[in-house]
Amino acid sequence: MSSPVVLVVGAGPAGLVAALSLTQNGIPVRIIDKDENFHTGSRGFGMQPRTFELFETMGVYDDIKHFAVPIPTMRAYKLPGGTVPVKTWDLYEKGEVWPDRPFANGACVSQDSLESVLRQHLSQHRISVELGRGLTALEQNDDAVVASVTTFKDGQPTGEVEKVSVKYLIGSDGAKGIFEKLLNLTFQGETRDADGMVWGDVQIKGLPTDYWHIWGKPGHYTIMARPLNPSGDRFGVGITGQNFDPVDLADPAKAIEFIHNETGRTDLEFGEFTWISHFKPNMRMVNKFQEGRAFVVGDSAHVHSPTGGQGMNCSVQDASNLAWKLALVLKGFAATSLLNTYNEERLPVITQMLHATTKLYTHTVAKEKAMEPTEKDSTDEDKQSGWFRWRNSALEMYGINYRFSSIVLEERDTRPRDAEDVLAHAYSGYEGRGSLCAGDRAPEAPKLLTSDGEVSVFKLLKPTVHTVLVFAKEGDLGVTAALANVPPSVVQIFLVAESQIPAVPGARTLIDSEGHARKSYMVDEGGSLIIVIRPDTFIGGIVKHASGVREYFSKIIVV
Ligand SMILES: Cc1cc2nc3c(=O)[nH]c(=O)nc-3n(C[C@H](O)[C@H](O)[C@H](O)COP(=O)(O)OP(=O)(O)OC[C@H]3O[C@@H](n4cnc5c(N)ncnc54)[C@H](O)[C@@H]3O)c2cc1C
Ligand SMILES: *[C@@H]1O[C@H](CO)[C@@H](O)[C@H](O)[C@H]1NC(C)=O
Ligand SMILES: *[C@@H]1O[C@H](CO)[C@@H](O)[C@H](O)[C@H]1NC(C)=O
Ligand SMILES: *[C@@H]1O[C@H](CO)[C@@H](O)[C@H](O)[C@H]1NC(C)=O
Repeated sequence: MSSPVVLVVGAGPAGLVAALSLTQNGIPVRIIDKDENFHTGSRGFGMQPRTFELFETMGVYDDIKHFAVPIPTMRAYKLPGGTVPVKTWDLYEKGEVWPDRPFANGACVSQDSLESVLRQHLSQHRISVELGRGLTALEQNDDAVVASVTTFKDGQPTGEVEKVSVKYLIGSDGAKGIFEKLLNLTFQGETRDADGMVWGDVQIKGLPTDYWHIWGKPGHYTIMARPLNPSGDRFGVGITGQNFDPVDLADPAKAIEFIHNETGRTDLEFGEFTWISHFKPNMRMVNKFQEGRAFVVGDSAHVHSPTGGQGMNCSVQDASNLAWKLALVLKGFAATSLLNTYNEERLPVITQMLHATTKLYTHTVAKEKAMEPTEKDSTDEDKQSGWFRWRNSALEMYGINYRFSSIVLEERDTRPRDAEDVLAHAYSGYEGRGSLCAGDRAPEAPKLLTSDGEVSVFKLLKPTVHTVLVFAKEGDLGVTAALANVPPSVVQIFLVAESQIPAVPGARTLIDSEGHARKSYMVDEGGSLIIVIRPDTFIGGIVKHASGVREYFSKIIVV
């Protein structure tokens, strides 16, 4: 294999997605982790529909779905006693499957399972995570980054250091990572010192697996037991809240005693914890995501309260936003200035996401603290019941968009825009406004017929290429000619037609048999329009003519 040009530091979900995406793009990478063992533990277990969509286009969804279980319905019990249900509810309102949204509801996938699937896909490209290898220093110059990679044994650096010279460095080393220090980034936000959490995976005998069980004293603590699998007796347990010492409780015997004491369920028999850990809720982010040739993705760029559970979901989106841009630059198809758009696009999204999850956290856990004015859709009853109901549809992440980005091009919607207002919607999006613009999530559209059978938009998208959909009565509106200079490895062109039309060299025809593509992309019947979808499954351009396609690519590609 050619020598690595990108070093990925940290092999959690963010690092693995970055490494896999780059590898799929043909970029030689190395990925290291300072840990000597792979992670165990369910950790960030919840996956948003949007994350599944991304995994689908990366070709890993089929393997991940074997590990996915639906998010269980929650049930709270009366205290003392702990056996009489007082309330039963769903964490999220159950969504429906629509043709443009094939994954309606999130699911639980333990983080260790997710990571093992991603590693397995990397190994198909002969890349494996180098364990016990940690970044300890770095130097940058105009052409390269030189990373000091140190061998770790029993958690300690051995003094054995390898100097690794690469073109770019990706810091995916998590919340306790080293990049913030090495790159001199500020990591601003707050830690709720009074609050604490203990999480663990354990076998519990005597507890049914049909609910996510909750016992709690609002304002003090909440104890949760989430079945890891509907068949089995293993649970992910959590103790969160205030007025207890999480460090002390992260000892299995103490945790069990606390749960017995506070739930009154002394009948529950605990087996061995396969994982237990404690932490304090942290809501912080860096001031920028790039410094020279080094980038930060995932928890090393932003940590969240687990409320609203956006951590891992956002981490994988960071990685996919960065990967395609790095790949184009490294192949010499794009100017290095394209890389600046990683920070430009992700910073507003993450800032607003952090704000939203912190608000949820304040709302549900730390209630005696200043509470924001009533959310429009939360009832008093929800507030009284103490725990988790996440009614902010933004959490599904469908709304996340880059309409404000300097590299998207919108020609259909020509209404004047207020730049600040557009920026302010980076995370919450435009749900319910019936618009679809450049910068938005590319919607799914099923039942597209090709000469090889039926496909859908998501089945065509790839993390390696731009996808152009040409809606027209016939012909390609001059798109193939306009893109003649763009390397074929960078773009794929499809004609979306209502019925069979004459073939156009350089493009494949899709018959939109039930009109789903027209509906999803809001194209009038008989109308013509060109949609450019980026490798990270966001819409880069909505344009009317081939000249618009050329203009879009002139922002991305240098040829
Ligand atoms: C103990 C723990 C419990 C969590 N529990 C929950 C939960 O219950 N719910 C929830 O929603 N989220 C939880 N999270 C957060 C969630 O796991 C993260 O959002 C997610 O893991 C982010 O992925 P990442 O790849 O950015 O970072 P991580 O998964 O943290 O991966 C970072 C990796 O970098 C490695 N590393 C660190 N420093 C270096 C170095 N100098 N050189 C090389 N490698 C290095 C680390 O060993 C680690 O493997 C938890 C996180 C942790 C650590
Ligand atoms: C991702 O999103 C899901 C569904 O909203 C949530 O339950 C989960 O906790 C999130 N995962 C992480 C690790 O943030
Ligand atoms: C880090 O940033 C601070 C504040 O911006 C600055 O004073 C300091 O010189 C910087 N250090 C390095 C090593 O760049
Ligand atoms: C459980 O309750 C007993 C009796 O009240 C008490 O002595 C013990 O400290 C409690 N343990 C924990 C971990 O709270």
